[in-house]
Amino acid sequence: MSREIRITPSILNADFSRLNEEIDRIAAVSDLLHLDVMDDVFVPNFTFDFEAASKIIKESSLPVDAHLMVANVDSIAVQYAEIGCTSVTIHAEATANIPQTLRNIRAAGSRSSLGIKPNTSIDDYADCLELVDMFLIMTVEPGFGGQKFMENMMDKVRRTRELIGDRDIWLQVDGGVSMQTIEIALEAGADTFVVGSAVFSASDPAQMVVDIREFATGKSSL
Ligand code: DX5
Ligand code: ZN
Repeated sequence: MSREIRITPSILNADFSRLNEEIDRIAAVSDLLHLDVMDDVFVPNFTFDFEAASKIIKESSLPVDAHLMVANVDSIAVQYAEIGCTSVTIHAEATANIPQTLRNIRAAGSRSSLGIKPNTSIDDYADCLELVDMFLIMTVEPGFGGQKFMENMMDKVRRTRELIGDRDIWLQVDGGVSMQTIEIALEAGADTFVVGSAVFSASDPAQMVVDIREFATGKSSL
């Protein structure tokens, strides 16, 4: 398989009272910071409005992968690209004009990414293959960290890998990923892994990122 893998820790379960320090703890060993933006409309939880999120993004010592769990995301998505996010994920279920918004994100200089909730089929979005730089396959119902990994999403991950073919599109899984679940996600075809509570509940978050990466890299080169 020997696929390059990426670890993109989520700070959703980090200590919000000292976010910059929490980010600094894992920055040196992580590929991107996964920033979960929730509006309490698209998902039943709230994390950051654009003002708070842009402060985190500007101060972050790690480039940011913004995961926008926001209704009517088309207009705000470009703003996340414009303030310098490396990647911006919009949800297929929250977007009035997916192709145009993905194009706008790229035009603003970020990698474009399409998020797919558990009950959403990936085949409905096969026509986006030329417009995305990443697919985010949710392996929990979006809204909260610390949930159980949904193994029944692996068929969708396999199908997404099949659709990607030899295109340079990252395949991210998000939700319940840990040392115990990353292998089945890797085997199904994922190459980019959001790890939230498994990292920030560890006594040494940075070491957990290193261990998960080493484990996954070892498995991916079999
Ligand atoms: C859930 C978020 C995930 C979550 C991952 O809606 O999109 O990024 O924070 O956290 P864990 O790894 O704890 O499931
Ligand atoms: Zn997320």
